[in-house]
Amino acid sequence: MKSIIIYGSQYGTTEMYAKELSKKTNIQAISFNDVKDINNYDTIIYLGALYAGGVLGMSKTLKKINNITDKKIILATIGLADPTDEENINNIRNSIKGQISEELFKQIKIFHLRGGIDYSNLSFIHKTMMNLVYKHAKNLPDEKKTAEDKAMIDTYGKKVDFIDFSSLDSITDELTKCNY
Ligand SMILES: Cc1cc2nc3c(=O)[nH]c(=O)nc-3n(C[C@H](O)[C@H](O)[C@H](O)COP(=O)(O)O)c2cc1C
Repeated sequence: MKSIIIYGSQYGTTEMYAKELSKKTNIQAISFNDVKDINNYDTIIYLGALYAGGVLGMSKTLKKINNITDKKIILATIGLADPTDEENINNIRNSIKGQISEELFKQIKIFHLRGGIDYSNLSFIHKTMMNLVYKHAKNLPDEKKTAEDKAMIDTYGKKVDFIDFSSLDSITDELTKCNY
């Protein structure tokens, strides 16, 4: 069985999770930009950072799989909002549904991890986007604020790190179950 960890990371938090998972499992981790032929692998673990609900590099990468039925595919999203919040999980999953085929969505096992952000490091475009989202979130009545809105307001302009490598255990357990 050939396995690969593929990550989509802009600022490095997702890459850190991918490298740690690689260390724990001895499975090679590479950026989605460097994947040569995804069809060479039986087990694919995709770790992708969330950007406005989109999972960085995911649809582009998974689209290249010719036959998904003979593959084990695990997906982990990395975002700022609380990944244990039910509403947040539902929002992320609904968004994923729109980014991949229905067949693939039914087959993949999905996990949610928490990343971090350093505003001093963001690109101009990302800073501008976050400013707009922050202004919108801040003006919402409290009862309308989602976990994502709250995370955005609490962390706006700061450097925060919610990386927790122990949250990778759910993925290693899943891999053990499928005898990767
Ligand atoms: C422009 C922008 C949009 C983002 N959108 C989301 C989002 O929709 N949901 C979320 O939970 N986090 C969101 N985040 C936070 C990132 O997912 C988080 O910082 C993540 O750790 C980034 O991963 P990376 O360091 O691997 O790029 C956003 C961050 C930026 C800069």
